[in-house]
Amino acid sequence: MNKKVKIYGAGSIGNHLAYASRSMGWDVLMCDNDPQALTRTKSEIYPGRYGKWDDKIRLCLVQDIPNEEFDIVIIGTPPDTHLDLAIRILKEEHPRILLIEKPLCTPKLEKAQTLYELASQSETVVCVGYNHTLGQNTAEAEKILRRGKIGECITINAGFQEHWGGIFRAHPWLAGPQDSYLGFSQRGGGATGEHSHAINIWQHFAHTLDLGRIIEVSAFMDIVKEEKTEYDQISHITVKTEKGLVGFITQDVVTEPPKKYVRIQGREGFLEWYVNWSSEGDAIISHCKGEVVTKKILPKKRPDDFKWEVEHLEQIIEGRIQESPISLERGLDTMMVIAAAYLSHQRKQVMRVDYSSYTLDSIRDA
Ligand SMILES: NC(=O)c1ccc[n+]([C@@H]2O[C@H](COP(=O)([O-])OP(=O)(O)OC[C@H]3O[C@@H](n4cnc5c(N)ncnc54)[C@H](O)[C@@H]3O)[C@@H](O)[C@H]2O)c1
Repeated sequence: MNKKVKIYGAGSIGNHLAYASRSMGWDVLMCDNDPQALTRTKSEIYPGRYGKWDDKIRLCLVQDIPNEEFDIVIIGTPPDTHLDLAIRILKEEHPRILLIEKPLCTPKLEKAQTLYELASQSETVVCVGYNHTLGQNTAEAEKILRRGKIGECITINAGFQEHWGGIFRAHPWLAGPQDSYLGFSQRGGGATGEHSHAINIWQHFAHTLDLGRIIEVSAFMDIVKEEKTEYDQISHITVKTEKGLVGFITQDVVTEPPKKYVRIQGREGFLEWYVNWSSEGDAIISHCKGEVVTKKILPKKRPDDFKWEVEHLEQIIEGRIQESPISLERGLDTMMVIAAAYLSHQRKQVMRVDYSSYTLDSIRDA
């Protein structure tokens, strides 16, 4: 059925999700508080990526948003603006779905608990844009893990290592990290926030294997401090779950060509999950004792990442999803690890996360 979608932020992700929504035949309104962003969307970003501008997409400044109801509202603005927008939308509007981009907020976690409480009382389903949990590579990995072929899981390692030249190529209007939240860890940028897909997918597979939430975090980072920026360019995080699983997550903005992977080591074999394994798409490589190593390529183009995400939103609206991997709770769990990682690095301490509230009070020295 046709859906009405409103997207805050006519930047990179706003365009991805506008295109994905239009591929579903949905009505799309994109809004931004910067008139240049609207002009750029119509004349550069959208036609540059998808061949031509789509006249059915409505564009407007935030102050001119028409007073209409929308089925889906998407927040595709910088992380330090997410929660004020989300809280206002939950109070004043009643979309079926509110999708907030990752990372959910800044590492200070201000207003995260307020959002959680509001969302718990609201009929709006709140999601966080960790779309890699919805890819075909993830579905394939889950199938293999559920068959139990690699045996008991010993450890999981995950990495999203990508020089941010790629991000800046997608944002040619930015001269560098100093021009956006990307160059500021405390605004949700830096490697730990920007590449937090790695933390999230680590948590996703720990969840699939019923190995519990992360309760201990130890991080070591390489921080770049320049006149106008302060961000972690490398973030190495060791984690332990409540069921005792120990693993490692690495995220950086320096690796070229990029590497985005998870490796799950079991007693009887291993499974490797890759994003953009080759120009053909993603891949799963797996092996169990007594068998040959198998590699399965899962063809994918960049727009597919977001097509699968909006299809998932439609399935949520239709009541076909029991437990969503992009739920608010999962996004908040990732935020707790991001916040704990920064505290661990600053204090040179292992941090313990107890999840009694989504605030810094729930993260203490172990
Ligand atoms: N899931 C993914 O794979 C993925 C990919 C890209 C970006 N993201 C996330 O999306 C978010 C935005 O990133 P981006 O690369 O699109 O940034 P961007 O800078 O390209 O675009 C953000 C836009 O938001 C606008 N904006 C800022 N405050 C606003 C407000 N209050 N109301 C309306 N518009 C506002 C800005 O003017 C800008 O045009 C970030 O959190 C980022 O991590 C996720």
